[in-house]
Amino acid sequence: MNINIRPMPPDYRIQLAGLLAEIPQFKTDEVTVALELIDAYLAGGTQSGYHILVAENTGTIAGYICFGPTPLTESTWDIYWEAVSPHFQRQGIGGLLLKAAEKTIGGHNGKLVLIETSSTPLYYGTRGFYRKHGYRLICRIPDFYSPGDNRLTYSKILS
Ligand SMILES: CC(C)(COP(=O)(O)OP(=O)(O)OC[C@H]1O[C@@H](n2cnc3c(N)ncnc32)[C@H](O)[C@@H]1OP(=O)(O)O)[C@@H](O)C(=O)NCCC(=O)NCCS
Repeated sequence: MNINIRPMPPDYRIQLAGLLAEIPQFKTDEVTVALELIDAYLAGGTQSGYHILVAENTGTIAGYICFGPTPLTESTWDIYWEAVSPHFQRQGIGGLLLKAAEKTIGGHNGKLVLIETSSTPLYYGTRGFYRKHGYRLICRIPDFYSPGDNRLTYSKILS
């Protein structure tokens, strides 16, 4: 495998839409919102408030990460979406994308990084992924997404 991480080129939109559709955790309305952020980025670049990096393996998109500065904060950034194609998961690509995003955030003087996810068993691996990369659970809102499905916020302070 020869993974290259770079800002999303516009001609990857179709492949990225295909990738999002094959992530079992994502519901249809979540894919719709993820695509809205992608389209905002493609229309306005990082001025849109979103940064998108893709991981490609010789022309095939293996994963992506979407993040941006949190409005009305001095140095807080949100990671809005990250996904790696099921064909490419557990091979370190998600970690490479997260590290690359953190590097970009640090380069913009970002200090605090926040990521939200769900408490359901479907996101067990995702929670382990964030913990493995130094993110700490700092907030739990019970029944946020639906009864029994809590919103978890993980954070990391960049050094
Ligand atoms: C979360 C995600 C981006 C991680 O990408 P990845 O390329 O698989 O991650 P890496 O290979 O860099 O890291 C793997 C680590 O993540 C955790 N992990 C990822 N998937 C896991 C799973 N199914 N079960 C258990 N742990 C898992 C483990 O800590 C694992 O480390 P290990 O292999 O040493 O046990 C990917 O699994 C994914 O796209 N998940 C579905 C979508 C999602 O939940 N996105 C985030 C919310 S927006």
